[in-house]
Amino acid sequence: MPRFPADFLWGTATAAYQIEGAVDEDGRGRSTWDTFCAEPGRVRDGHTGAVACDHYHRYREDVALMAELGLNAYRFSVSWPRVQPGGSGGPNTKGLDFYDRLTDELAARGITPFLTLHHWDLPQELEDTGGWLARDTAYRFADYAEIVHTRLGDRVAHWTTLNEPFVQMAFGYALGVHAPGKALLMDALPAAHHLLLGHGLGTAALRAAGASHILLTNNHTPVRPASADPADTAAADAYDALHNRLFLDPVFLGRYPDLTAYGVSEVPGVSEDDLDLISAPLDGFGVNYYNPTRIAAPESPDAALPFTDAGITGVPRTGFDWPVVPEGLTELLIDLNARYPLPPVYITENGCAYPDPAPDPDIPNATVPDPERIAYLDAHIRAVASARTAGVDVRGYLVWSLLDNFEWAEGYHQRFGLIHVDFTTQKRTPKTSALWYQAHIAAMS
Ligand code: BGC
Ligand code: BGC
Repeated sequence: MPRFPADFLWGTATAAYQIEGAVDEDGRGRSTWDTFCAEPGRVRDGHTGAVACDHYHRYREDVALMAELGLNAYRFSVSWPRVQPGGSGGPNTKGLDFYDRLTDELAARGITPFLTLHHWDLPQELEDTGGWLARDTAYRFADYAEIVHTRLGDRVAHWTTLNEPFVQMAFGYALGVHAPGKALLMDALPAAHHLLLGHGLGTAALRAAGASHILLTNNHTPVRPASADPADTAAADAYDALHNRLFLDPVFLGRYPDLTAYGVSEVPGVSEDDLDLISAPLDGFGVNYYNPTRIAAPESPDAALPFTDAGITGVPRTGFDWPVVPEGLTELLIDLNARYPLPPVYITENGCAYPDPAPDPDIPNATVPDPERIAYLDAHIRAVASARTAGVDVRGYLVWSLLDNFEWAEGYHQRFGLIHVDFTTQKRTPKTSALWYQAHIAAMS
């Protein structure tokens, strides 16, 4: 394994709705994900995040596990409806208390918190007035950012505004496979602009409050044409603009990319000054990487351009059927670094789901063998090292995820954790990948 600097951050990432549970406790409001899970057919087998990993009550045990693994960073998200139940107005103190306790626990264990303000669980009341399709939500987000910073700003240095606005817009508003379940295709574009505006207004609010390390995290993918045919190449370029450039050009270049291939001449609802807010300087940039995307032209030239992956072929696949292409991460980082004047980069998510077995109940202290995950992490960390050698300033790597958790529309069927969770007993068991990561971190320090 190549060397990384001693101050490189090694950690894991999670998100509030995927692990906390306790959806009706201490004044938490309803989120779009509570609503979505309650709608028949939306989530596999009707699973919900109502209990999840019960992290709301077991956070001490979970932080102790992180400390045992030697992690020096932890990325978590704050549940907006826990802190501001309806998405506007004054804070719910009891909700903030939870994050206060969590932050103190992390500090006591010497783990650097990376706080994400919004990882998809929008207060339902805001969705009822348009959600991210409404411009007003961006202003509500800035108020919420200020509330959280007022309480935690003395202990949290790293502030991420949004997690994966691309996936929230595409899956939530364009394709309807995530909350709030709207299938508007390109009519979802106002959500993209309002998410970006929320990021810009949130950044301004955090700056005014004194935050000195602000990030945005997005999901990125190297896009490959299905063949050398110019129609495929054109479709791949169009998809790259939608998945990668739509959320990066405004932030790092202060303008929207060309989306005419999708029949869009102009992103709607952009007011004067919006792009200045959106392109305010950042201190870090979070890249979530899972796999490259292969795009083929539609069969008929009149058909709509593809919005989704045609599937990379000829490579191993995870239990979730996602292609395993570690060198795609090197390629992506080098490419993004060439396109944009990037601040320091953090890999804020990378990981894989496999149908890991439960620990053997007959063996005391049994672990969970997950050799594929070890191979996946090893190869992707090497890919990060290659990008660093090529000049990309990557400063941290956070595995998705600490625990097996609620994998959105897949419910509990996809296990992404370094730590196995028995969802009946809530017992945590480190998998062999957790022990591998522990040894890796120890060797790097
Ligand atoms: C894609 C991943 C992406 C995920 C978002 C999958 O379909 O293959 O790249 O991260 O959706 O949840
Ligand atoms: C999201 C996570 C999700 C992971 C695996 C990312 O798109 O930020 O919440 O669990 O990918 O699908």
